[in-house]
Amino acid sequence: MSDFTHFFWPAVITVVSLAGIAACAWLAWRHGRNPAYAQPAEAKPDTGHVWDGDLYELNNPPPRWWLWMFYLTVVFSLGYLIFYPGLGNFAGVLGWTQSGQYQAEREALDARVAPLYARFDGKTPEALAQDSEALAIGTSLFLNTCAQCHGSDARGARGYPNLTAGAWLHGGTADALRTTIAEGRHGVMPPMAAAVGTASDVRNVAAYVQSLSGMRTDSVAAARGKIGFMNNCAGCHGAEGKGNPLLGAPNLTDSVWLYGGSQADIIETITRGREGVMPAHAGRLTPQQIDLLVAYVLKVSGGPGR
Ligand code: HEC
Ligand code: HEC
Repeated sequence: MSDFTHFFWPAVITVVSLAGIAACAWLAWRHGRNPAYAQPAEAKPDTGHVWDGDLYELNNPPPRWWLWMFYLTVVFSLGYLIFYPGLGNFAGVLGWTQSGQYQAEREALDARVAPLYARFDGKTPEALAQDSEALAIGTSLFLNTCAQCHGSDARGARGYPNLTAGAWLHGGTADALRTTIAEGRHGVMPPMAAAVGTASDVRNVAAYVQSLSGMRTDSVAAARGKIGFMNNCAGCHGAEGKGNPLLGAPNLTDSVWLYGGSQADIIETITRGREGVMPAHAGRLTPQQIDLLVAYVLKVSGGPGR
């Protein structure tokens, strides 16, 4: 940060905050002793507001208790700004921070649940996948942190992988799953239509992709599309189309589709590319919680390597 942003804006915020509070205090004080209250109705300044013939503004002074409440809020806000951060760079004499409070609450919670997790210490995810108590915790962790994308039954949705199918983009071993959950994954299929050629070249390649998983498709088009696939797609999806977990490139020979297997879906994939992002969870979950999730995924997918 330059000196300017470091000092100028905090100074502006400090001045504006204090001036605002001072203005409120002044307004209340000034209003409380407005001489017009004491004057007879005829002598009051004409604000243009009269109701029921005799109800003027400035008929009655604000009640004392109301003024005192107002002054109290002013005192409170000054006190707040002394103890808590609020005035520019001044951190407040208590040294309180939002992130500090969050950290403290998290540590307290982690300490409280530690005994619950202690019995899983040193167990592999494969072993945890056989342990019903571990799976119960894994299931609730999944419902809390993963289900909004992968579905409460882990079967996913368009663009969000089905974790029960045993067909993996990034690998289904305990280690691969742990990496996926902790560090996240970013699958990138670039837009390929320009490289493939004309619209009918793209259609032919799409037909070839359909033929890879034994779908019924235009067999002449599929035969024509093979060369385009070999030239443009095999580098990532493999010569046989079986995918590459190092790149997150899916196996195109199974019947599991992330973005759909219709001709239109595949053409869209080739034309626009696809980019699925699995967010990293290492900062939000402990390593032990991640292992319990690995166990849960192993369980619902029928085990490693399937
Ligand atoms: C640079 C590597 C790369 C190349 C080249 C590539 N792909 Fe992909 N492809 C991927 C990745 C990675 C994904 C998964 C994208 C994601 O996770 O969002 C993917 C996804 C797909 C899908 C979606 C599968 C599904 O389950 O819905 C199809 C279909 C596909 N690619 C076909 C092709 C075809 C056809 C070509 C050649 C024209 C091609 N890809 C070229 C990496 C590649
Ligand atoms: C914001 C949505 C989102 C959340 C939350 C999310 N995921 Fe994902 N996840 C994805 C997407 C999208 C992919 C596919 C990435 C790609 O295309 O390569 C993915 C991929 C995966 C994969 C890899 C699948 C494969 O075929 O290799 C696993 C395993 C996984 N997620 C498990 C989890 C678990 C466990 C959680 C909870 C801790 C979770 N995900 C939370 C969106 C999400």
